Amino acid sequence: MNRLDVRQGHPFCFQDELFFVMKKQTSPSIILYMDIKEYVTLRKSALKNQISSLTKKPRLSIITVGNDPASEAYVRGKKKDAAEVGIEAIQTWFPGDISEETLLDAIRKQNNDSSIDGILVQLPVPKSISVEHINLTIDPKKDVDGFTPLSQFRPCTPRGIIDYLTAEKFPFKGANAVVVGRSEIVGKPMAKLLLEKDCNVVQLHSKTKPDDFRFYFAHADLIVSAIGKMNTWDASYSYRPSAWLIDVGITRGEDGHLHGDFVPSLPVAKQTPVPGGVGLLTRLALLENLMEAVKHR
Ligand code: GUN
Repeated sequence: MNRLDVRQGHPFCFQDELFFVMKKQTSPSIILYMDIKEYVTLRKSALKNQISSLTKKPRLSIITVGNDPASEAYVRGKKKDAAEVGIEAIQTWFPGDISEETLLDAIRKQNNDSSIDGILVQLPVPKSISVEHINLTIDPKKDVDGFTPLSQFRPCTPRGIIDYLTAEKFPFKGANAVVVGRSEIVGKPMAKLLLEKDCNVVQLHSKTKPDDFRFYFAHADLIVSAIGKMNTWDASYSYRPSAWLIDVGITRGEDGHLHGDFVPSLPVAKQTPVPGGVGLLTRLALLENLMEAVKHR
């Protein structure tokens, strides 16, 4: 993978603050990745500054049920992110055999606790508990995951992607945006947010005909893929050289490494890496959502 060392500084405004972002120079012959790590570091330091001026520290409640190792790793990451910017994250753990009513009661109690700004229930939960019931119970004003029907927040992955593209000055207006996947928490809200940004949005999914993927990809200015099937989109597809590829898929291969839906280093203007790409944007968006909740205390 080629990376350029030559950097250009350019200012951008983000939530009333001015930053200089180191932006990589582009050249048609060199494949570049968006530097998401740099962007996330900048945003986190801005959040840390905002939080340091607050009299009351923001408080995030993370509710976990059972002992899913992947969930434990995600929760560790969320707590680490929170601590880095000065958010207090409290975890409430329940055993896997907890009844739904006990869990919903705990959520109701936290809804009424004014010391808690945001609540999330780490998924998956045991099959005996309905995710829909959880989502209908969390106060929409505290639903920082953005999962509940009336949530006042954008779901974290689409929000993270839109914020990043905005900071990178992606030309949304009239752009052909293709979203692959139609899940409730990524594909559908992603398409909605891109439409709100004035993109021409096409949503593809498991029932889309193979040739139609080729057709829509060849005309896309932006492709967001969230299917979780590693290396599905390769160089046998045609892409506009000016296209931006956003890879939401993360799959652990037999080689033990993490892979995205796209093979790396496709001949396009920008492609997000896996790992170190959208996952970081999702984690950042949770902190941003919590700060919005704090503003509406
Ligand atoms: N499990 C995997 N990702 C997520 C997430 O973003 N939020 C919650 N609550 N659970 C998850």
